[in-house]
Amino acid sequence: MRLPFIQPRMRDYSILPLARSHSAALSVLHREDFARPWTGNEFSDLLAQNTVFGFAAFETGKGRAGPVGFVLARLAVGEAEILTVAVSRAHRRQGLGRQLMDAVLRRLHAQRAEALFLEVDETNAPAIALYRRLGFREVGKRPAYYQGEDNRKSNALVMRRDLR
Ligand SMILES: CC(C)(COP(=O)(O)OP(=O)(O)OC[C@H]1O[C@@H](n2cnc3c(N)ncnc32)[C@H](O)[C@@H]1OP(=O)(O)O)[C@@H](O)C(=O)NCCC(=O)NCCS
Repeated sequence: MRLPFIQPRMRDYSILPLARSHSAALSVLHREDFARPWTGNEFSDLLAQNTVFGFAAFETGKGRAGPVGFVLARLAVGEAEILTVAVSRAHRRQGLGRQLMDAVLRRLHAQRAEALFLEVDETNAPAIALYRRLGFREVGKRPAYYQGEDNRKSNALVMRRDLR
């Protein structure tokens, strides 16, 4: 007997603006990937600043479960920067990183910003691939900018996306 082919169901997500009430959950997500994770209070202080904004991804149908990805950005005097972006491991490669970054780009276009900058570890191939797909280009390098858990240093690439 042939078994029916069952198509894996794509998960559904909503992208919503970040609020200070998300701070503790953001700190938990941040801890998954960063050697020096930011605390809930640090996120809360950032989100209290009127130049800082961001978006979070929530899996639909999961009630009050916390975000599975987020991006935080700052806009000041026409120039913006990505402060951090992360997607929980179980939810990667489903377009969330891209949707979160697109939400930032739409907001910056609406606010007539000129350019968006970010720094990324030059060994972080997934993030660099995402940024290149979104139109970022390398404009500089900061030597030995990051220090890994094994004390090895790596360079930061500075990337820029024109918005006009
Ligand atoms: C970088 C990160 C946010 C990407 O999130 P994601 O939701 O998996 O990304 P997406 O599914 O939207 O991927 C969009 C595109 O980015 C590129 N990409 C993402 N992950 C990749 C990987 N592991 N390898 C190669 N390309 C990758 C691909 O071009 C992908 O498009 P495709 O799936 O159609 O090929 C995620 O890997 C992450 O949270 N990493 C840890 C935290 C981090 O490094 N943040 C950046 C600090 S500067």
